[in-house]
Amino acid sequence: MSVVPVIEADVLRRQDPELAEILLGELARQSTTLQLIAAENFSSPAVLAALGSPLANKYAEGYPGARHHGGCEIVDVAERVAVERAKALFGAEHANVQAHSGSSAVLAAYAALLRPGDTVLALGLPYGGHLTHGSPANFSGRWFDFVGYGVDAETGTVDYAQVRSLARLHRPKAIVCGSIACPRHIDYALFREVADEVGAYLIADAAHPIGLVAGGAAPNPVPYADIVCATTHKVLRGPRGGMLLCGSELAERVDRAVFPFTQGGAQMHTIAAKAVAFGEAATPAFTAYAHQVVANARVLAAGLAGEGFVVTTGGTDTHLITVDPLPLGVDGRAARGQLAAAGLVLDCCPLPHGDSRGLRLGTAAVTTQGMGEGEMATIAALLAGVLRGRVDTRRARDEVRGLVGGFPPYPS
Ligand SMILES: Cc1ncc(COP(=O)(O)O)c(C=O)c1O
Repeated sequence: MSVVPVIEADVLRRQDPELAEILLGELARQSTTLQLIAAENFSSPAVLAALGSPLANKYAEGYPGARHHGGCEIVDVAERVAVERAKALFGAEHANVQAHSGSSAVLAAYAALLRPGDTVLALGLPYGGHLTHGSPANFSGRWFDFVGYGVDAETGTVDYAQVRSLARLHRPKAIVCGSIACPRHIDYALFREVADEVGAYLIADAAHPIGLVAGGAAPNPVPYADIVCATTHKVLRGPRGGMLLCGSELAERVDRAVFPFTQGGAQMHTIAAKAVAFGEAATPAFTAYAHQVVANARVLAAGLAGEGFVVTTGGTDTHLITVDPLPLGVDGRAARGQLAAAGLVLDCCPLPHGDSRGLRLGTAAVTTQGMGEGEMATIAALLAGVLRGRVDTRRARDEVRGLVGGFPPYPS
């Protein structure tokens, strides 16, 4: 099967060389630089094939068996397969696979459980809360009254004592747990206990760890949260998209919150691609992958600490590492640019004391490429070499090319 069927079939190249060039350029960029963005991965050719399939043509408002459009008998089967695979993978009574993105999933969770003006307790944005956790620039901050908890400035982990005291003080309608920058497992049982104490719903935004959950390498929030929101494109390695998991008592509210409340027609090609990804994630090979992602992240974190970076929480339990590069003489924002020029692609992120000058790295993509602990040590040395000026940009680019050349994401 071709990696990018449209390009390999030469159809796009013949009809629209300008766009073909752009697609191939991006494929080359992904194949010749190091993808260390914690939210990214390489979907399989099978996932890409489903995304590029004629299911993209089909309009399908509603749910299987109850659509507003005709001709849905085949796509209904695709959505049922996706739902059943998601339920089995995560042990959930109900799954909604229509959310167009992680943000859409969070919006739908709020729509299912809250009214505008309700109080919500979530991780503050300066400490790793997502935009949908109360940013004033986002619907969440405008429509709900968010109270933010933080992380312990010393340890970098969620300040659970503060979660409890703020919950008692503000009596929120919902508590959100989940982060864009937390490298450690979240204590879902403790969040459940606090939510029960104050009569709040618990929403787990597991956008980041859900792929590790699928592979048995991180705790599953499903038994604890009223609704779990997730993305399908991070460690889970599916198409860009979202999903919601919940118990059967909330199934109808969740489904109606997605369609018709916050979305229109389901994207059937993406739903089919999610089904493919869930199928892949149920295999022993994916379990091994998820554990290797964490093993690689631990080695990378240790390597970075050895090079002088301050590693938040002292390490990681997941695919994600956050570091302060200041001891190497540069802050996160400047470091990101320097590293990108050298072909090392990663993000800035918040640090425990609340400024956004950290660096966030993830091992999902490099592990999909087949890299192991040995390569992680090389990457740590490269990152430090560039920032300390030991390795100039041109040499670093050559070294990156040499490294990724041995691990093509899409060998063809
Ligand atoms: C915790 C969390 N929630 C929500 C999202 C939003 O996902 P999307 O970008 O698909 O809207 C992200 C994305 O990175 C995230 O990390």
